[in-house]
Amino acid sequence: MDFGIDGNAALVTASSSGLGKAAAASLAAEGVNVVVNGRDEERLEAAAEDVREVATGDVVAHPGDLTDPDDTTAMVERTVEEFGALDHLVTSAGGPPSGPFLDTTDEDWYDAFDLLVMSVVRLVREAAPHLREDGGTIVTITSRSVKEAIDSLVLSNSVRMSVIGLEKTLSKEFAPEVRANAVLPGPHETSRIEELVEQAVDRGDYDDYESGLADWASDIPLERVGQPEELGDVVAFLCSERSSYVNGVAIPIDGGAGASNL
Ligand SMILES: NC(=O)c1ccc[n+]([C@@H]2O[C@H](COP(=O)([O-])OP(=O)(O)OC[C@H]3O[C@@H](n4cnc5c(N)ncnc54)[C@H](OP(=O)(O)O)[C@@H]3O)[C@@H](O)[C@H]2O)c1
Repeated sequence: MDFGIDGNAALVTASSSGLGKAAAASLAAEGVNVVVNGRDEERLEAAAEDVREVATGDVVAHPGDLTDPDDTTAMVERTVEEFGALDHLVTSAGGPPSGPFLDTTDEDWYDAFDLLVMSVVRLVREAAPHLREDGGTIVTITSRSVKEAIDSLVLSNSVRMSVIGLEKTLSKEFAPEVRANAVLPGPHETSRIEELVEQAVDRGDYDDYESGLADWASDIPLERVGQPEELGDVVAFLCSERSSYVNGVAIPIDGGAGASNL
């Protein structure tokens, strides 16, 4: 199947690891020129090298912090400078800390909002003129926590809902030039999951990492956590011509773990 995006330009944020990196790799393998991003420059350069191994277009590493408005502006500008266009904006970010509600402070809530919501708001604002010029796509990587609250993830459960409201609004306001969709990952084997399972072990929820990971997979009909590239390929599909009538949806990618009928 030809995705029809060969030679397009994409900015994929928080892509020096995990799901963002997998999305960047899937797009790069389809011939998309990609800017990858993260804060740690060494980790970012290593990720860019990995993505180049599968890429048929260009891969540019651009360091920057998603919570810094100047940095988010610079990410968009760099993409347009490098490739002369911005056709696809794919947003990922780090995850907020886990733990019960009573352990969270006001600062935790504002930090989570800044990282997960304001980063997308600012990126979309900067990218909009470029996306609307020739038509484009926005894909936000959020979490299955927007459909079903996950234990010990009150910040994710609460704050990420705003991103879905934003994405749905954009799918109307920016149409027909731009399509906006979201993907809702269940557990995928990335450093974020390692961190969450290790935090749960430290809290005494599990004896060790292996039993924690097994527990995360226990309610998944496919009987395993996902691999990042299984999500990356869906992101590339949503950016592609093959999904040209898909707009304003939030697709769970969770091995069937969700209990909701819709
Ligand atoms: N993996 C899962 O199973 C899963 C499930 C549901 C939802 N999610 C959500 O999906 C998102 C990505 O998760 P992941 O598993 O891919 O995590 P990951 O493997 O830990 O990768 C996180 C990426 O975000 C970058 N990053 C973090 N904070 C940043 C910032 N302020 N500015 C720029 N880049 C930043 C990190 O690089 P630097 O640290 O170098 O900046 C890294 O590249 C998170 O929001 C996570 O909560 C993940």
